[in-house]
Amino acid sequence: MSKQVFNPNPEFAKNANIGSMDEYNALMDKAKENYEGFWGDYAKEKLDWIKPFTNVLDESNAPFVKWFDGGKLNVSTQCIDRHLNTRKNKAAIIFEGDRGDIQTITYLDLYKKVNRFANLLKEDFGVKKGDRVVIYMPMIPEVAYAMLACARIGAIHSIVFGGFSSEALKDRIEDAQAKVVITADGAFRKEKPYMLKPVVDTAIGKGSPVKKVLVVERNNEDVTWVAGRDYSYNELIKNKSSECEAEVMDAEDPLFLLYTSGSTGKPKGVQHNSAGYILWAQMTMEWVFDVKENDTYWCTADVGWITGHTYIVYGPLAMGATTVMFEGVITYPDAGRPWAMVENHRINQFYTAPTAIRVLHKMGEDAPRKYDLSSLKVLGTVGEPIDPPAWKWYYEEVGNSQCAIVDTYWQTETGGHIVSPLPGATPIKPACATLPLPGIIAEILDPVTGELAEVGETGYMCITKPWPAQIRAVWGDEQRYIKSYFGDVKKDGKAVYFTGDGARYDEDGYITITGRTDDVINVSGHRMGTAEVEAAIKKHPNVAEVAVVGRPHELKGEGIFAYVVLKSDQGVADEVQEFTIINQIIKKEIGNIATCDDIVFISGLPKTRSGKIMRRILRAIAKGEAITQDISTLEDPSVVATIEKMVNS
Ligand code: WT7
Repeated sequence: MSKQVFNPNPEFAKNANIGSMDEYNALMDKAKENYEGFWGDYAKEKLDWIKPFTNVLDESNAPFVKWFDGGKLNVSTQCIDRHLNTRKNKAAIIFEGDRGDIQTITYLDLYKKVNRFANLLKEDFGVKKGDRVVIYMPMIPEVAYAMLACARIGAIHSIVFGGFSSEALKDRIEDAQAKVVITADGAFRKEKPYMLKPVVDTAIGKGSPVKKVLVVERNNEDVTWVAGRDYSYNELIKNKSSECEAEVMDAEDPLFLLYTSGSTGKPKGVQHNSAGYILWAQMTMEWVFDVKENDTYWCTADVGWITGHTYIVYGPLAMGATTVMFEGVITYPDAGRPWAMVENHRINQFYTAPTAIRVLHKMGEDAPRKYDLSSLKVLGTVGEPIDPPAWKWYYEEVGNSQCAIVDTYWQTETGGHIVSPLPGATPIKPACATLPLPGIIAEILDPVTGELAEVGETGYMCITKPWPAQIRAVWGDEQRYIKSYFGDVKKDGKAVYFTGDGARYDEDGYITITGRTDDVINVSGHRMGTAEVEAAIKKHPNVAEVAVVGRPHELKGEGIFAYVVLKSDQGVADEVQEFTIINQIIKKEIGNIATCDDIVFISGLPKTRSGKIMRRILRAIAKGEAITQDISTLEDPSVVATIEKMVNS
């Protein structure tokens, strides 16, 4: 099972921030010998403190932990003000619009924009420290200003991905009790305007905690304005001062919430706090992408996901880098778009998802050859395991066999990368996340014994020591935090953080992630809880029962496969029509990303005598695999054969 190994490019390694495995091992040893010393030193070196911290790590109330207690800082200062001495005229953000319009925002511009935005939120909307602000926006520079303005005044932002429906937006607004929503009229996609504001209008009904809505006018399409509630950013921002003193924040004051799917129907508000998060965002930018002073870095994610938070906005700006932000669709006008952008902006680090690589490969296998991609040094992937054919094309055609590929494994809850190659140090094996980053004690454990998993055996991917960027809370639900992350695995009798992923070691101790072990599907690198999709489908008045599973999908990684039992006497008159109706309901309840690729209508689900749905059987049937497990414990074993027949017909 030994794989081909790609050693770091020696020229690159010479100037890399971590340039050899000896350096990596020395850092890891230091972290293991003196964990608090390791982190305390970096926190002093990397962060601009208003008041120094007195304690590195407080585990007295574990699994609730505190990092850098007593310290005071402001994340927007870390991302902007401290660069003004040396990088005032350096591009902080290069924005490329859908239609090719380009804006360059320097660090000085960013300072002024963010301060004006912060003053607007304070003066016109009465936003105060600790208030929650929901951001529902397209990929335009104003979304970064909004995030940093919240950070500047100590408000907690909660970004909701622009692809989520009004129902999903409403749930997130209510859970966080947000009093302000920042949105845009809409934006552009494939040269056509699309709208966001109407979705916000529907989400804010009677009794909504939202009192004010700020609308960035991007596409200048007509929108409805509710007097006393809705205000134009473009108007209000005009007379705002470009000076706004940053709020003095505790190291552990919340920075943002980001909702993510879990194994119940209700998404959880993952809470990240100030100092630990921003420290790790910055350090991983420096280590994993190895961004140098004159480099230009591009991550194609959307700010609605954690990747956009940490690796478009917070990480790059904290380290003083130039970050590219793209409004459009990477395959429009053709699959050469990203490569044209790499050529035009001379991009040095490019970070995307396997699903995007597969689409670009399929639609434009030779497209990279038509552009000058010689500026590229590091290529990154995130979101799901990358398959070897996609890896090979990325490495050879995009990277011209010259670039390191960093397969970064992490999740919303980890704040930043936890397992990843270092481009100047780690010998890379294709489609393998390789080794834990220095300071991260990530281990694959046997879920029963809590011992390290044997080589080649699939175990549970755990993090056995708290780390600075770890999730601090599930908003408003202490028990759910404990239960979701610290309930499954114990090491030496102590509950440890479990990611929800399976993984295995190879003979070199390298980590390969094998995928989720829970009822979460990974659709195009985004987590979708089966329970959430099922709850949406159950809104259909004719649906009696439903079970949703993942099924391998050529482009998306996994697609959503639903087994639906309709109410008895009505039967299925028209399967195509029902398919459309169910997907319309999902679009309304969650959004486009959660729609089903397959729906089969069956007469009954395989259940145990205690009524538990046997999802493993349903997963196997969806994949076309033979059923090897014992089905005699089922209430009615004959349903299995019936379902197989329906699926295969
Ligand atoms: C889940 C986290 C991390 C930002 C994007 C998604 C899967 C993520 C990898 C990778 C294999 C990966 C895991 C993880 N995942 N990166 N490099 N190799 N699997 O964030 O929505 O919080 O999802 O994505 O299953 O738990 P998320």
